[in-house]
Amino acid sequence: MKKIITRIENFQYFYPYSVAVVGAHAQNQLNYMACAWHTALSFNPPLFGVLISKKRFTHQVISQAREFTVNFISADRVKLSAQMGRKSGHEMDKMKEYQVKLSPAKIIQSPILEDAYVSFECKLTDIRAYGDHDLFVGEVLAIHEEEKNFNSEGVLDTGKVQPLLYLGSDFYITINPDTLKHVLPD
Ligand SMILES: Cc1cc2nc3c(=O)[nH]c(=O)nc-3n(C[C@H](O)[C@H](O)[C@H](O)COP(=O)(O)O)c2cc1C
Repeated sequence: MKKIITRIENFQYFYPYSVAVVGAHAQNQLNYMACAWHTALSFNPPLFGVLISKKRFTHQVISQAREFTVNFISADRVKLSAQMGRKSGHEMDKMKEYQVKLSPAKIIQSPILEDAYVSFECKLTDIRAYGDHDLFVGEVLAIHEEEKNFNSEGVLDTGKVQPLLYLGSDFYITINPDTLKHVLPD
């Protein structure tokens, strides 16, 4: 028998998320944060959404920059997620303190993370409030990927990259590539 839980605010803890590190460079502010609440929104135009609480320093920086990068990291970079996700740019210069390695983007001014296995360059097209988070919508202008990590269909090669997954609180996991199946309908 399934039971009804009373801690409704834990609704977001019941399935794993992939971890992206999201941020931007605006004037003299450079800041990134861990982000689990993100989603593709549209193929054409290619739109990607990230949900960011108003409390985050990143909220301020992306609002000013009007652009952001989305950087997906592998399980061996889990410490970076904890650093970007448990410390705030309101209190410290995370990028300097943790010596986060950055590379220039191609189209926008905000850098991508060297440690990411794929990064998106996004131009901010909309900000919309949903309760205590704001949905930042970006048009994806460029994608940086290590070609060797993706198969001929552009799908992540899980033998080469194990994406970092977030379970909630401070728990992380990754995938087991042995469970991979290529499945077509009958
Ligand atoms: C794995 C992980 C995922 C997170 N996902 C989100 C998210 O999707 N949206 C959000 O607003 N905060 C999220 N957070 C919290 C922020 O990353 C955290 O508050 C961070 O310190 C904000 O940094 P900033 O103030 O420098 O922007 C997440 C934290 C962790 C550890």
